[in-house]
Amino acid sequence: MAGVLRDVTAVRYVTPLRSGGSVPGVVEADDLGTYVVKFTGSAQGRKALVAEVIVGELARALGLRFPELVLVHFDPSIADEEPHQEVRDLHSASAGINLGMDFLPGAKDFTPEVAETFSVDPLEAGRIVWLDALTVNVDRTVHSSNLMVWPTLGIAPPRLWLIDHGAALVFHHRWDATEPEKAYDFRHHALGHYAPDVRAADAELAPRVTEQLLREITAEVPDAWLTDEPGFATPDELREAYAGYLHARVRASAAWLPTDFPTREELAAEQALRAAKSQQGRPKWLQRVPDLHGKPAAEQDGAVHLG
Ligand SMILES: Nc1ncnc2c1ncn2[C@@H]1O[C@H](COP(=O)(O)OP(=O)(O)OP(=O)(O)O)[C@@H](O)[C@H]1O
Ligand SMILES: [Mg+2]
Repeated sequence: MAGVLRDVTAVRYVTPLRSGGSVPGVVEADDLGTYVVKFTGSAQGRKALVAEVIVGELARALGLRFPELVLVHFDPSIADEEPHQEVRDLHSASAGINLGMDFLPGAKDFTPEVAETFSVDPLEAGRIVWLDALTVNVDRTVHSSNLMVWPTLGIAPPRLWLIDHGAALVFHHRWDATEPEKAYDFRHHALGHYAPDVRAADAELAPRVTEQLLREITAEVPDAWLTDEPGFATPDELREAYAGYLHARVRASAAWLPTDFPTREELAAEQALRAAKSQQGRPKWLQRVPDLHGKPAAEQDGAVHLG
C-alpha cells in the first residue's frame, strides 16, 4: 500500500550538491530530518519531480531500498548566504513546495571503483534492472549509477539504495508517441554485468504492479506538478495516463524484458575498441596522453574504497 508524502518545512540550508546536474540542495527541516531537495525551478522541470515520485514510490512498494520522500516547503530567504548567483536564481524560482529525499549520511555513490569492493546479488540486480526497464529509466548507467551504498561505517552491512529517478518515464515527453511495448536499452546499465535475473524479477514483481497500486502511487504526486500539460484537462486525467501506460507496459513485459546482457569482458573489449579508435584519430604527439573518455583522472585510479 502506498502512503501519503509527509510535509516538512526547511529551516536551515546546508549546502548545494554540485555533483548533481540539477544542483539539489541539502536542508534541515522542522521535523529534525535532513533532506536532499530537488527544486521545482530547476532546468529539469516539474516532470523530473513527477518521475521521482512515481518511480521511487513504485520501487518502495516493490520492496526495493529507497530513501523516504517528503514535500518540502522552501523559503529562499533561508539560503541568503548562498554565494553563487545561479544557485540563488534556482532558489528564488522554487519558493513553495519542492521534493525532498531523506539524506543518507556517509553514503557513497556506486561508482565502478566502489563496485570493486561490493558484491551484488543477481536477484537484486534483476529487480533493479526490471524496474528500470518498466519505467524506462535512462539514467542508471555504469558512470552515472544513481545507486548509493549505505551505511558505510560498519554499523550494519552496506546495501544498495536507489536514488534519482528524474530521467525515468521518458514517455511523458511525448504522450502522442507512447508505445508500452518499446524495448529498453540496457547495454550500459550499472548492474548489467552482475548476471541480473530479470526473469525471476518479472515473475515476482509484475503481478504486484496492479492498477490499484498505480492509482495509489500517482495520487501522491501534487496537483501543482500535473497542471497545464497539453492534451490533459485535469491533474487526475494525467494521473490516469501514467497509471494506464505503466499498467499496459507491465502486462507487455515479454516484449521489453532485457536478456542477453554483455559480460564484463565484452564491455571491456568494447571500451578498448573505442579507446583505440579515438587514439587513431589523434596526432602523434597526443598519442602518449591517456584517454580518459571525459572522466576526471581521480575516477580512474581506483583509490576509492568503502570506509
Ligand atoms: N538521499 C541521498 N543521500 C545522500 N547523498 C545523496 C542523496 N541523494 C543524492 N545524493 C548525492 O547527490 C548526488 C546528486 O544527486 P542526484 O543524482 O539525485 O541529483 P541530480 O541533480 O538528479 O543528478 P544528475 O541528473 O546529475 O544525475 C548523488 O550522486 C549523491 O552523491
Ligand atoms: Mg543523479
